[in-house]
Amino acid sequence: MRLSSAEAMEAFGLTLGERLRAGDIVALTGDLGAGKTTLARGLLRGLGHAGEVPSPSFAIVQPYEPPAVRLPLAHVDLYRLEDDAEVAELGLDEWLHDGALVVEWPARLGAAMLAHALAVDITVGDDGARVLTVTVPDAWGKRWPFQ
Ligand SMILES: Nc1ncnc2c1ncn2[C@@H]1O[C@H](COP(=O)(O)OP(=O)(O)OP(=O)(O)O)[C@@H](O)[C@H]1O
Ligand SMILES: [Mg+2]
Repeated sequence: MRLSSAEAMEAFGLTLGERLRAGDIVALTGDLGAGKTTLARGLLRGLGHAGEVPSPSFAIVQPYEPPAVRLPLAHVDLYRLEDDAEVAELGLDEWLHDGALVVEWPARLGAAMLAHALAVDITVGDDGARVLTVTVPDAWGKRWPFQ
């Protein structure tokens, strides 16, 4: 999938947010500035969030709770974490009982969570457009609206 503007990226995220369910993990990979936070911003709009969506680079976990959003969501950025133990301390799996996760720099999430995730890898083309490669897990089944 090729998306040539930040607006198109947000619109794609919005579609995912509208279809998101408790237990879902959306894993966003791609270089610095690829557009991960932009996609997450759209996803939060699709969940009903109307306010700002700051990058979680410093907070690491940015929580969103109903009624501002349709279901609890943690927007996570693991870029600055040094090891797997630090990730374990975040207790991210707690969110999955009644909520979902959108994770930037997800490499340290652990194999079980990664295997279950909707994985979106973003690369930047020569013309600046973003090319998205999506791995759709069984959990998304018929919810996946694209080819
Ligand atoms: N599809 C797109 N086409 C062109 N520009 C885009 C697209 N998606 C996002 N951008 C732009 O890319 C820039 C960086 O986006 P963003 O902050 O979302 O990246 P990021 O992957 O979260 O970076 P980081 O790794 O630092 O967290 C922003 O200026 C955004 O508007
Ligand atoms: Mg980001």
